[in-house]
Amino acid sequence: MIERVPTDIEGLDEMLGGGFLKKRHVLVTGGPGTGKTTFGMEFLYRGALRGEKGLMVMLEEKPEKLVENLQQGMDWDLEEQLKNDNIILVSIDSFSWERLSDTLQSYITRHNVKRVVVDTLTLLKMNTKDPFEFRRQIIGLLGFLENLDCTVLFTSEAPYPTREGARYSIEEFIVDGVIALYNIPIKNERRRALEILKMRGVDHSNAMYPFKITKSGIVIYPEEII
Ligand SMILES: Nc1ncnc2c1ncn2[C@@H]1O[C@H](COP(=O)(O)OP(=O)(O)OP(=O)(O)O)[C@@H](O)[C@H]1O
Ligand SMILES: [Mg+2]
Repeated sequence: MIERVPTDIEGLDEMLGGGFLKKRHVLVTGGPGTGKTTFGMEFLYRGALRGEKGLMVMLEEKPEKLVENLQQGMDWDLEEQLKNDNIILVSIDSFSWERLSDTLQSYITRHNVKRVVVDTLTLLKMNTKDPFEFRRQIIGLLGFLENLDCTVLFTSEAPYPTREGARYSIEEFIVDGVIALYNIPIKNERRRALEILKMRGVDHSNAMYPFKITKSGIVIYPEEII
């Protein structure tokens, strides 16, 4: 049996039957503001509390701004984890595949990182004009990550707000798991919802559940229906 990596995100581990599969890769996809970056940071924060080092490679946001935003919204003691290098935030501003894999390689091996987040793949996709080349690069990156002892989460921007409007993209087919985050318009407000689209090797929940972003993090309500 492959070891599980608990996310400790409220409600998610029960949907997954224990957590992500160790050393596998998962894509968190969703529209603007659906909580992709928060999800990624919580995965690292909960890992850090268990003594597993986390690395966040940021391609769009700046680390200082992300920390500032999280400190506004969350009651996590992020400062402590950052200070001790239990969570490492790195930003890449020249968008190339080589730069990304060099950065991953050096931080993961140097700091013995166990959980990695790449936020977001979308920029790399936009910077890789040919879809064949994008597919080739991403397969190469995943292959390279397999040789390192860490579980990886990617985020990507989905151009659709609801599952009805979903159009699948290359990266969703290649990765081991896909979690979709939605911000669904219902009457005069939007409701957040989450579903596991796939998770290779895992007997996971197939339902779409509502969730909230609270001060203590993401809370999924598997008892409720949207
Ligand atoms: N403490 C909080 N309570 C409720 N909602 C919060 C809290 N903190 C953040 N949020 C919500 O989280 C959203 C931002 O989430 P996040 O940045 O993770 O989304 P994202 O999917 O990464 O967005 P983007 O597409 O801009 O990268 C905010 O728009 C806000 O609605
Ligand atoms: Mg984001």
